[in-house]
Amino acid sequence: MKDVWGHSGSMDQSLSELEIRHRTLAREAAVEGIVLLKNEGVLPLSTASAIALLGSGAEKTIKGGIGSGDVNNRENISIYQGMKEAGVTITSEDWLEDYEERYKNARNVWKEKILEDAKHVDNPFDAYASNPFILPEGRAVEAKDIADAKAAVYVLSRISGEGKDRRRVKGDYYLSEREAADLFFLNEKKIPVILLLNAGGPIELTDILENTENIKAILNISQPGQESGYAVADILLGNCVPSAKLTTTWARRYEDCPFAEDYSYLNGNLDTEEYKEGIFVGYRYFDSFGKKPLFPFGFGLSYTEFKIEFKGIETSEKELTVEMKVTNIGDTYAGKEVVQIYASLPQTEVKKEYRRLVGYAKTKLLQPGEAETLKITVGQKELAYFSEEKHQWIVEKGTYGIWTGNSSVSLEYSSTVKVEQSVSLEDTCVLENTAEIEEELWKTYECRKTTADNSHCIVFTPHPEEKKIYRSAYATEQMAEDLLPLLYGNIAETTSTLGAAGIRVPGTAGETTEGLLDKYGIPSLIMADGPAGIRLQQHYEVDRATDTVYGIGVLGALENGFLVDREEHEGADQYYQYCTAFPVGTVMAQTWNRDLMQRFGEAVALEMEAFHVNLWLAPGLNIHRNPLCGRNFEYYSEDPFLSGTLAASVTKGVQCRKGCGVTIKHFACNNQEDNRMGVDVKISERTLREIYLRGFEIAVKEGQPAAIMSSYNLVNGVHAANSKDLCTRIARKEWGFDGVIMSDWNTTVPEDGSVAWKCAAAGNDIIMPGNAEDAESIRKAYRNGDLTEEEIRSCAGRILKLISQLA
Ligand code: BGC
Repeated sequence: MKDVWGHSGSMDQSLSELEIRHRTLAREAAVEGIVLLKNEGVLPLSTASAIALLGSGAEKTIKGGIGSGDVNNRENISIYQGMKEAGVTITSEDWLEDYEERYKNARNVWKEKILEDAKHVDNPFDAYASNPFILPEGRAVEAKDIADAKAAVYVLSRISGEGKDRRRVKGDYYLSEREAADLFFLNEKKIPVILLLNAGGPIELTDILENTENIKAILNISQPGQESGYAVADILLGNCVPSAKLTTTWARRYEDCPFAEDYSYLNGNLDTEEYKEGIFVGYRYFDSFGKKPLFPFGFGLSYTEFKIEFKGIETSEKELTVEMKVTNIGDTYAGKEVVQIYASLPQTEVKKEYRRLVGYAKTKLLQPGEAETLKITVGQKELAYFSEEKHQWIVEKGTYGIWTGNSSVSLEYSSTVKVEQSVSLEDTCVLENTAEIEEELWKTYECRKTTADNSHCIVFTPHPEEKKIYRSAYATEQMAEDLLPLLYGNIAETTSTLGAAGIRVPGTAGETTEGLLDKYGIPSLIMADGPAGIRLQQHYEVDRATDTVYGIGVLGALENGFLVDREEHEGADQYYQYCTAFPVGTVMAQTWNRDLMQRFGEAVALEMEAFHVNLWLAPGLNIHRNPLCGRNFEYYSEDPFLSGTLAASVTKGVQCRKGCGVTIKHFACNNQEDNRMGVDVKISERTLREIYLRGFEIAVKEGQPAAIMSSYNLVNGVHAANSKDLCTRIARKEWGFDGVIMSDWNTTVPEDGSVAWKCAAAGNDIIMPGNAEDAESIRKAYRNGDLTEEEIRSCAGRILKLISQLA
């Protein structure tokens, strides 16, 4: 449907200036997000040495995960292409050609399966989501593939996405038989192996590393977006120096993660998920319980070396400032370093984790010999714990240790901070839905106390936080009945297609109602997915006579149309929308670079403007609770402080352009994909607040996002979209969140899903993408008094305010 601004797409297929600019940024971000995990003198490679390039992702490099987080960009650069263009001789062309055939066949078999399965489900998306494509095995590597090669680069790739968690099987969390056999073969041949991990999360490497000696280097490239191949070549060849750090702990064994066997589908119970590990998520667990990970949180190597010196600490009213000096002490490479500040809290009133991340900063590019002084602030709330008993955030009286370094395990005790009186920073609402959950780890936890070292000791006096007053009512002059359509998305004539219900801009996820346009002149807002860029349909056709867009259905909108044979309509006009596939959320986070995150946000906003998108359905900042979560790639980290601060930076970037807003998601505890719409998360209030909400809180308070997307799952018995605790008490009353809260897509569709009218009652303003039953449920509730006029005006008022800001 044409709008006042004409079509969002362009009939000109040539590369736009924006695409060209964003290619450069996507490459820069990928380079900064690739983590060097091991390097025994083999990297960087010289362009002059021939290499054997092997493994599923060598030529089929995975740019990102699947589902709504996918981006339908123009072109992906494979590692093969990146290396070839850099002038590297590849000795394994025959292996790669053979792989191409296997890949094509596997894709076709997979496509047939999806099309067949789709016939038997209500929503074809479910057939797709439950069958993520598994990259086929290559042929066994042979001596001829590595003849004359100086090193072998072996790429392990994995695909995952929404709707399904990763499997604890060979070929997914573990190496496939072929991958293991190939790596043993290469090991025997004594060729140095560089392992590239091209997956949305960890792959267990302990066995292969313990049983080989020639895996000389490991790079976690994760899923680095459309410029993957160039970025990998930049790093492998030393044109750029790695500077990324892990944002998630890589366990030696899956079983080392707390309550690993109970996660998602593994214990056979998909109805309830008990967060028994409490606050001991990721490094908080490994560090507190003295467990050694394979690769720790915050860890990443460089081609150069840095000296990191603590220079002092100061206090001001509500924060500490830690001064650090970083010097590049190498003599060859310029590089960047990430300085991390952790704090150990007093263990007196209640026990706490041993240490937590409370501050970080990345240096500029430092030339050999060059130094930079960083001033890193630590806000007082990073030193607080949540008291369930008192309903308060408290900075407890006692001794705090300040640790500094460049990973969660290489830390020096730098300073002692003394707090002389316990201070309650803020009172919180009393929640309606809580759970009695036994957090068993507390029983065996022997907390290590911080021994004060008086060489750098300061006194800090925390101050209660001022509360931001949230405006609960916005003036709405319209008849209450007329406002109802605002509370659910535009009801499409066709069945709503998950992730592609938008009409005005093809391939967008949805829109707010158009129902108030004629009478009140109120336009709708257009929403498009992320987080790795803007998700639109790359190509669409328009019937010239009626100026309507030809629909392509749910399957047509996936994988750039691979699943559906393109049907050319005679005489139709062809339109194109090329967006940039930036690296996935985890790669972006691995940069630990807030400035880069903000620039990324600005770039996203430019594409939003170009395609008339008002709300971006990103960033995603759910916590990496377990390595098997199918959507971890979209999210930042296992640490809430890191996640929240990075999300705030992206938010500022996007929202610095008028008319562009973000939607931080999925609020809250969407930490598994199997039965994501029905799982009831049982969690203590302290864990909920300290781990799973804290990132959202930081993002809301610092970034002021336009919108929040509630999650599908239940939290302590109530669907997030129906939870007054989450939407109204916490987000609005406590945090002062002033924007719109929308549901995740089709949350009201399952029989035991969210109840439509209860969304509005809870303060979840819009149900997306909206359907006739939602409309009916809301209308009925209004008529019978379940939903008050005030509740309707509150939700509608917030939506109208957002429309006036963005449309
Ligand atoms: C996802 C959301 C996404 C929405 C719209 C849902 O399936 O969970 O993250 O924004 O679809 O595409």
